[in-house]
Amino acid sequence: MLNFADKTMNEARQGEAYIGEVSLGEIPLKRFYIESYGCQMNFSDSEIIASILHTEGFGPTQNVEDADLIFLNTCSIREKAEQTVRKRLTEFRKIKKQRPAMLIGVLGCMAERLKSKLLEEEKLVDIVVGPDAYRSLPQLIDEAESGTKAVNVLLSREETYADISPVRLNSNGINAFVSIMRGCNNMCAFCVVPFTRGRERSRDEASILAECKDLFDQGYKEVTLLGQNVDSYYWVDPKTNHPVDFAMLLEKVANISPSLRIRFSTSHPKDITDKVLHTMKSHANICKYIHLPVQSGSTRILQLMNRTYTREWYLAKVKRIKEIMPDCAISADIIAGFCTEDEQDHQDTLDVMRQSQYEYSYMFMYSERPGTLAAKRYKDDVPDEVKKRRLDEIVKLQNSLSLETNRKDIGKVFEVLIEGNSKKSPNQWMGRNSQNKVMVFDKTNVSSIQPGCFVHVMAEKCTQGTLMGRIVNPS
Ligand code: SAH
Ligand code: SF4
Ligand code: F3S
Repeated sequence: MLNFADKTMNEARQGEAYIGEVSLGEIPLKRFYIESYGCQMNFSDSEIIASILHTEGFGPTQNVEDADLIFLNTCSIREKAEQTVRKRLTEFRKIKKQRPAMLIGVLGCMAERLKSKLLEEEKLVDIVVGPDAYRSLPQLIDEAESGTKAVNVLLSREETYADISPVRLNSNGINAFVSIMRGCNNMCAFCVVPFTRGRERSRDEASILAECKDLFDQGYKEVTLLGQNVDSYYWVDPKTNHPVDFAMLLEKVANISPSLRIRFSTSHPKDITDKVLHTMKSHANICKYIHLPVQSGSTRILQLMNRTYTREWYLAKVKRIKEIMPDCAISADIIAGFCTEDEQDHQDTLDVMRQSQYEYSYMFMYSERPGTLAAKRYKDDVPDEVKKRRLDEIVKLQNSLSLETNRKDIGKVFEVLIEGNSKKSPNQWMGRNSQNKVMVFDKTNVSSIQPGCFVHVMAEKCTQGTLMGRIVNPS
């Protein structure tokens, strides 16, 4: 079981766990402990949950032993993610035996997927709540306290939690996530998200801007706008009737201050527009980094996946990004061994990776998810050892691409936002450049340089994961 309490949430990605920590400066009635798994949206949801619970007088704790309530905010994206949660529940069973009054709640995507079946399968679970039902948590806790198992997995077409101010959990006070939409209307054949998160809906523009402005006023230096498919953000102002698309939203967030950095995730290749790319280009504070999941490099597989683009279309999009912003980094998600994938399809994926020159990739073996289009229509027919071998080849290629792109950065100067000490040495800082690359460099004796500061760093050496350099004066 991984504990990512010492990591920024940026580093905690799909399938990893993170334990919340925050001090609210009051003595709470009861304490809750929350562990989050899955994507950044789930981490962001945990901050909404913390806020709802805080209003009811509950305070967070990092210690299971002190908790009256234990929550797991779960992910269903791959079978392994669900197995991790089940293992964790077995561990909690022991604690529950000693303290039967303690309540255990399963929240998030696994709660939504399994609904009340989860209560049958996991007898110790008291509360099951889906991603659109967090407002009902206080009431469900009351029910569970009076001995009734409590479930709410209703999905909504409207819920965006727009009015809830997230309680920043385990925050470094520098980077924060802001959800701009929920759900997903793309029916990628492999994906469980449309079933666990429901229909796509965008959050009120004014509430997003207010939250970002508030974060900036509190001293935050970087916000990441989150959605399963941010480029399809669309909001019509009820007063003016003016529509707002993602490019417009991005521009307004960027205009809050030139010293607030903006990131966003995730972009579906079919939806990212030239307008978004030009908006990125014209604002220095919008980071030059796009997460552009390809999933496969074979047009035949992409069609089966229902991704709605071809290999050529994807490559043309990558070319367009580089034409408009030559310094823009691109990362991808890649699935190895989707149904019917043969060696040629696999080679096509490796080829698209080479042509796209990804700075980074998140790489997975295909895992069949019950209820998805692929589970209904196709056979999961690529043997496990073939999936593993292909994934291995994909990972090896990505490692060499990452090293190659990092080598090209040697000698260049980047603006870096310092996030904290480097993992290896208290005498070094760690931060990220606009391209989202981790940079590590020696501290100087200038005491005003602290986490949250922007500095200029010249890259001098690299590994595949890090650029090492030194602070220089801006040129
Ligand atoms: N909305 C985002 C990603 C959501 S899930 C997008 O569209 O890109 C994150 C990643 O998990 C996906 O991009 C995909 O690469 C991977 N994934 C999703 N379902 C999967 C499955 N059944 N098996 C393996 N990987 C999967
Ligand atoms: Fe899943 Fe596709 Fe939606 Fe991403 S865009 S969440 S992969 S259905
Ligand atoms: Fe997992 Fe749900 Fe996110 S399935 S990846 S936590 S949307």
